[in-house]
Formats: sequence, structure tokens, C-alpha cells
Amino acid sequence: MRHDHLISAKQLSRDDIEAVLDRAAEIADDPGAVADAQDGTLLGLCFFEPSTRTKMSFDTAMKRLGGGTVDMGSVESSSVKKGESLADTVRVIEGYTDGIVLRHPSEGAAKLASEFVDVPVINAGDGAGQHPTQTMLDLYTIRENAGFEDLTIGIMGDLKYGRTVHSLAHALTNFDVSQHFISPESLRLPRSVRFDLHESGAQVREHTEIEDVLEALDVLYVTRIQRERFPDENEYRQVAGQYRIDAEMLEDAKDDLTVMHPLPRVDEIAPDVDATDHATYFEQAHNGVPVRMALLDQIL
Ligand code: NCD
Repeated sequence: MRHDHLISAKQLSRDDIEAVLDRAAEIADDPGAVADAQDGTLLGLCFFEPSTRTKMSFDTAMKRLGGGTVDMGSVESSSVKKGESLADTVRVIEGYTDGIVLRHPSEGAAKLASEFVDVPVINAGDGAGQHPTQTMLDLYTIRENAGFEDLTIGIMGDLKYGRTVHSLAHALTNFDVSQHFISPESLRLPRSVRFDLHESGAQVREHTEIEDVLEALDVLYVTRIQRERFPDENEYRQVAGQYRIDAEMLEDAKDDLTVMHPLPRVDEIAPDVDATDHATYFEQAHNGVPVRMALLDQIL
């Protein structure tokens, strides 16, 4: 990769992505081969927002590489509660660790943090901004299940606040992929992301109804409405529960449609989808470990 810090999927070229995915596949085949690769290295986990998968899979990945982790703990139990600035927090943690994984509610937080420290900063989600490591495991899952050749992907749900969507859309511009975005009008992709996709020459279409495009899809990437990012709870209620798929709807889809979701899901994928061959979201979450092992081994 060209940069030590991993802040945005925009910094990733096709070669960068393929190198990480290839390495992750090797690690998935033979994890024992890298069991000591990061012996003596420590990774700081700084999560200012809730996380299950991202934090635990970074922790697991680091330990499976023979390294260790130091966890800031919750905001409630750290000095952030006393009013410490992000810059001061990361400058202190830099002295304890060899790299920092940061999740923060403010867009731009990872970029800002990276300007204050010399150890690599890995963005694990900055508000409604970016989530590039999720994108790497999403791409890995897409490659394993559908491949990038002639791929038609639908990305549905909260396209406005969904950082996994923004990162994935940017990364997919490196491949010859047709991207369909499905959301209510009020949760369209932000103008800046649409602009970038347009500039890159990506094939992009927007829809408000999943039925308009379902039959053409090879991959359907469903996302949660990001309730915590709505300035007004009423606005959330207006869109909540509108974009939901179930097993019956998927009867109209291609037999080999891959259904993905970064998780956690609320109600946007009915539980009856779990038993279908389409459901790939738990496999996707498990892929977080080899993919983050590959990333950490490269960045650290
Ligand atoms: C996502 C996130 O935090 O952006 N979760 C994750 O990292 N797998 C998606 C979400 O919270 O909806």
C-alpha cells in the first residue's frame, strides 16, 4: 500500500486490493504459517463508538499473528469522559503501541488522528465517512462468492449515512462492476460520493424500488438504517422498516445471488433468509479475521 495509514478506500488501487485479498486467502488456507508474524507487536484499539465484529476481529487477527492488543475500553471508562481531546488521546496511545485502530462518531476523525501520530492509524469507521477495512472483507467475500467479472451489485438501505457503503462504492470503481443503489430518496448516496463515482467513470444507477433491479443482481449488499446518525428521530421513523428482504422476495432473484450485510442487522433481512443459499453475511463476518490479519501484517 502507498500509505502507512489506512483512512479511506479512496487511497486503494486495484493492485493494493488484490495484494491484500491474495494474502488473506493464503492466510485463511494456512493460518499457522503466520502465527508468529507480529510477535512482540502491540495494537491499540480505540473505539469511541459501539462495535462487536470490527473490534473483536481486529483483536483476534492481531493475536493470531502472535501480537497483542491494548484496549482503550469504552468512552465511559476512559479519560475521554473527562474531556480529553482526540489528539491528546492518540498521542498518548502512540507511546504504548505500534499502531492504532480508531472508530469515532465524527467524520474525518481518523484523518485528524493520523496527523498527530507517527504510528499507523487504521480507520475502523469515522461517523458517516469511511470504513475501509470492512470494505476489504466485503471485497474478499464478493471475490470468493461471485467474482468481479461482469458483476452486477445492488447496494440497498441507508446510503446516506452508511460508511460501509461509501467505502465499498469507492473501492468497486477499481473493477468493471455495475453498481445499483437502492434507497428512499431521503437516504440517497451523498453528493460527494456520487461525484467521485461519476468522475471515475463507474457504471452507476439509482433506484427507489428493489423490485426494479433484483432479478439482474449477482450480489445484494443490504445495510442497516443508521439510526444513531439521524439528527431527528422522526426522520428515522419515516424510513425505518421500509427496505426489507425476505425469502419469498428472493424467489425472483438469480439462484446464485449472494446476499451480504456488514451486520448488525435490525430487521432489514428477515430471519427466513438465513436458511437460504443466498445468505452470506455470517461468512462475510468471519472473513474479517484473515482479511484483517493480511492488512495488519502489511501495515505494521
Ligand atoms: C458497520 C459500521 O459500524 O459501520 N458495522 C460493522 O463494522 N460491521 C455497519 C453498521 O453499523 O450498520
